[in-house]
Amino acid sequence: MNVKNTAVTFREAKEKGEKLSMLTAYDYSTAKLIDESGVNAILVGDSLGNVVLGYEDTISVTMEDMIHHGAAVARGVKNALVVVDMPFMSYQTSVYDAVVNAGRLMKEGRADAVKLEGGAGVCPQIKAIAGAGIPVMAHLGLTPQSINAFGGFKVQGKSEAAARALIEDAKAVEAAGAFSVVLECVPAKLAKLVTETVGIPTIGIGAGNACDGQVLVYQDMLGMFSDFTPKFVKRFANAGEVMREAFGNYCREVQAGTFPAKEHEYGISDDILEKLY
Ligand code: KIV
Repeated sequence: MNVKNTAVTFREAKEKGEKLSMLTAYDYSTAKLIDESGVNAILVGDSLGNVVLGYEDTISVTMEDMIHHGAAVARGVKNALVVVDMPFMSYQTSVYDAVVNAGRLMKEGRADAVKLEGGAGVCPQIKAIAGAGIPVMAHLGLTPQSINAFGGFKVQGKSEAAARALIEDAKAVEAAGAFSVVLECVPAKLAKLVTETVGIPTIGIGAGNACDGQVLVYQDMLGMFSDFTPKFVKRFANAGEVMREAFGNYCREVQAGTFPAKEHEYGISDDILEKLY
């Protein structure tokens, strides 16, 4: 029998050396399918800005977007931990804003936990949100909301100073009360060191396989999003191709008049029909 994943079962998994799986989802039907796969967590990522809303980055994503998609996902999930991203400027502005907005993601977006980007600089926010009883997942390394400060999508933590800063940030978010931390686009050996240093599970994306868990954007791993494919993405299926073919077949059948066929029709008695002529 599958059990509900929680911030507590995440910590227990690390203690037992069990790997954690997380995938993104943004809608009810996909969340239901992913939940049925036995995944540990579903992330309603602000990557929805890219893969669902078609923005170039995650900067324009709003609290209303996250609430709307979070609640849709939560309705489809039974066992996975539903983590909803705090969008750009919903927590950076103040500790007060962070707690109010994390609370909205729980109450209106039906999140089980929230995720926010940053290290020592956002620890007051992590402490306050966790203090309000809301599990917080941190996010270090390449943090897409800071893409303009990074000057593009680049691997993080490559210099000695940057690597040390990343380790210190990981320790800081743990001390502030985060129950888990995402490491994005970090050299595999550095991610291993962080994973061995902190007591909370590390969830990697482009951070090698020594992390305690992994996360991927589902459109990337299914080959449904081709605007940009990072090196760390593995295609587990080519659903994009399957969908394109199916859409094309549908158009051709409609044009040829072969769809709908008899088996897709509803009947009416001939007696009634005759009276209508
Ligand atoms: O928004 C997102 O999908 C994420 C993952 C890439 C970790 O933050």
